Amino acid sequence: MGQTGTSKLISVLGGKPAKRPPVWMMRQAGRHLPEYLELRSRAKDFLDFCYTPSMATEATLQPIRRYGMDGAILFADILLILDAMGLGVEFEKGVGPIVQQIESASDLGKVPAIKAADRLAPVYETVSRVKAELPKETALIGFAGSPWTVSLYAIEGRGKTDKSLAWRWAHGRPEELAAVMDYVIEATAHYLVKQVEAGADALMLFDSWAEGLPDNIFREVIIRPTTKLVAMLRDMGVTVPITGFPRGAGAMLPEYARITGVTAVGLDTAAVPLFVNTALPEGMPVQGHLDPLLLIEGGERLDARVRDLVEAYAGRPHIFNLGHGVRPETPIANVERVLKIVREG
Ligand code: CP3
Repeated sequence: MGQTGTSKLISVLGGKPAKRPPVWMMRQAGRHLPEYLELRSRAKDFLDFCYTPSMATEATLQPIRRYGMDGAILFADILLILDAMGLGVEFEKGVGPIVQQIESASDLGKVPAIKAADRLAPVYETVSRVKAELPKETALIGFAGSPWTVSLYAIEGRGKTDKSLAWRWAHGRPEELAAVMDYVIEATAHYLVKQVEAGADALMLFDSWAEGLPDNIFREVIIRPTTKLVAMLRDMGVTVPITGFPRGAGAMLPEYARITGVTAVGLDTAAVPLFVNTALPEGMPVQGHLDPLLLIEGGERLDARVRDLVEAYAGRPHIFNLGHGVRPETPIANVERVLKIVREG
């Protein structure tokens, strides 16, 4: 299942380096765009925005129209799956996401995993509408949060914590955590299969809270569940490329890249090209790793850094991107400048 895309991005994910790397940016649809803010002001709240296919389609297409990015990332959020599972999810201005906290695995699973995925029908509708409107050369990227990052939000109840509750589950209640993650894995697999059926050309798994974990725990909560999810997707017939982004994985990245079965890996701002190029499997595509804060500052240092990164990964398939998402205060001219340098040198 999944179509062979004709886009440059899909070709790079297929292992063929491009003369100039394809480029898109995480959180390219969002608050740095005036057209996004205008659209956003018409939605009741952020969830309503994500669940309204006409609006989510428009938000997905805005950065494509403005910048001609090589990839369009579906406009949605990694926390929608928790909402579909029946946990309350709210996005409060300035506070970040708030999720109804779970105390054990039995607080989840009241909604069967497949049913949770079915509840996200508006997202699939968005995928098919975007697909119908996208130029053929633009790849449509579907996504989900990784089992650990999604479970962490349910355990912590919010994003702005020190994450110690979830870490303590990992050390002290490993079976309970595994039960939570197994359910998340199953729901996420159905969710991603449906995105591919609706037209996604590639998938990405965001593991935003992979940073700083002890190596044994990293294996248990990141590598093992991701391996399980990727295997399940392949068993369910998904053939499109899957990019894994374990943000902050550091020295664990090569093991993640070798074992999980992902097609490509995302590089965060702290990635080191020499390490990446020597420790990752030869020919494995990478995506990243420009600092979004440098993108705000701009100027000659931005120009030089973009050229350096293109050069640094010229020996393997590379998709130019940021090491984390575009920030709301990012000048549009700086995004345009990066695209120009990536494409023209
Ligand atoms: O352009 C894109 O990247 C596509 C859409 C997308 C969003 N969130 C839209 C969004 C994607 C891929 C995500 C992923 C996501 N969501 C992650 C993984 C990437 C990362 O940042 O590490 C995480 C951790 C979340 C959870 C989440 N959603 C947070 C922490 C926030 C920020 C809350 C805040 O108030 O700043 C959100 C909200 C969110 N998701 C926004 C957007 C555009 C901002 C909401 C708004 O417009 O008010």
